[in-house]
Amino acid sequence: MERPQTIAPPEGKLGVLLPGMGAVATAFIAGVYAVRRDLGRPIGSLTQMGTIRLGQRTENRTPALKDFAPFAAMDQLVFGGWDIFSDNAYQASLRSGVLRKDLLDQLKPELEAIQPMSAVFDRHYVKKLDGPNVKKGRNWMELAEQLIDDMERFKRENDCSRLVMIWCGSTEIFLKPTAVHQTIEKFEQGLAARDPAISPSMVYAYAALRAGIPYANGAPNLSVDIPALMELAAQNNVPVVGKDFKTGQTLMKTILAPGLKARMIGIRGWFSTNILGNRDGEVLDDPESFKTKEESKLSVLEHILQPEVYPELYDDLYHKVRINYYPPRGDNKEGWDNIDIFGWLGYPMQIKIDFLCRDSILAAPLVLDIGLCLDLAARSGWHGVQEWMSFFFKSPMHAADLYPEHDLFIQLMKLKNTLRFLMGEECITHLGNEYYD
Ligand SMILES: NC(=O)c1ccc[n+]([C@@H]2O[C@H](COP(=O)([O-])OP(=O)(O)OC[C@H]3O[C@@H](n4cnc5c(N)ncnc54)[C@H](O)[C@@H]3O)[C@@H](O)[C@H]2O)c1
Repeated sequence: MERPQTIAPPEGKLGVLLPGMGAVATAFIAGVYAVRRDLGRPIGSLTQMGTIRLGQRTENRTPALKDFAPFAAMDQLVFGGWDIFSDNAYQASLRSGVLRKDLLDQLKPELEAIQPMSAVFDRHYVKKLDGPNVKKGRNWMELAEQLIDDMERFKRENDCSRLVMIWCGSTEIFLKPTAVHQTIEKFEQGLAARDPAISPSMVYAYAALRAGIPYANGAPNLSVDIPALMELAAQNNVPVVGKDFKTGQTLMKTILAPGLKARMIGIRGWFSTNILGNRDGEVLDDPESFKTKEESKLSVLEHILQPEVYPELYDDLYHKVRINYYPPRGDNKEGWDNIDIFGWLGYPMQIKIDFLCRDSILAAPLVLDIGLCLDLAARSGWHGVQEWMSFFFKSPMHAADLYPEHDLFIQLMKLKNTLRFLMGEECITHLGNEYYD
């Protein structure tokens, strides 16, 4: 990654396009409108609430992140998207039950104006859903062309200077990369032949990259994470990032596990179970979609704890993740963790976590931060996987020859140091002054 000679200024409107306008997407959109009208604060958003220390501790330079790096401002954002249901953003927000009706009613005109465009969808990839607002086309390529037309129209009609796309659609069934995913040529042949190894989220990602639009994946399905689309991102100089917003139980795991490891505390078992009752929970009730989520959730501990480096502490760890669909809870998930740990001389101890969490309240600020960081990356001329944005993801995309970084604190340091580097400031290593001479 090179430091750019210049960073294009964030002039004009930034269109944020969201395939999947359900709980997360509408909590994000309504939240931005609420903040603009001073009806709430953007809690949980690093770009809006965070600061960054610059130089030596004695210098007392700690600007707000949004004053330090040239992010687009929240009032420059306009929103659009696609969904298989034709509910506008007000109806979809009410239905998902994340934000209170009295707040949504104050934002009703803006939210009602956002009508989802018809989706690229096939039930094969999300077995639990079906809806009427779906595009027709002979093959995936025709549908991708329709998405490109949608994006151009949206940009023109909303007078946007730039767009970013963030997948907030349902989790698709588990797919492994195969031959059709290896090169652009094979992938485009697959699009024309409607190859079943290509899923709708890949069609959106392809359309975005073809149109030069940065793409992020908030779900665990492969989507852009295949060699063919990496090749296209490089060819068209487009930044991409993913996968799976880091919220809820995995957020807690990546906060706690690095701490236990830092103190060389052993872990024998980590049992995690969730009950949730929103549409995401219903989709994840299908074993094929759950498998995609499970892979994403399981990989976290192994990479943080490094059992190959610390076999005595983590080699025998039994890690289990369960998700149970339980409609009465709606979007207010409950995540339980039982952690069996051991200390001095191997004496056992236990930790129990009961996180009464609101999934979309944790995810909405990530959509904002991801959109703003991705746009900044594009204006800085950066392309390919943006590993410095791993902080936001459960299953961070990474270069083929590297392992993903899951430790939240290393991720935060990497993100802030990348911004320091971008803006020509010294990176902070936390090596004390006494060592410099
Ligand atoms: N809420 C969280 O904390 C969280 C965390 C990590 C990941 N995620 C992921 O984010 C995604 C969205 O979560 P949510 O809670 O908003 O779910 P949701 O079910 O409320 O919304 C998903 C929406 O996507 C739509 N959709 C499905 N396939 C589509 C397609 N091909 N094109 C367009 N629209 C499509 C559905 O109709 C639905 O409205 C899910 O994949 C979820 O696993 C959520």
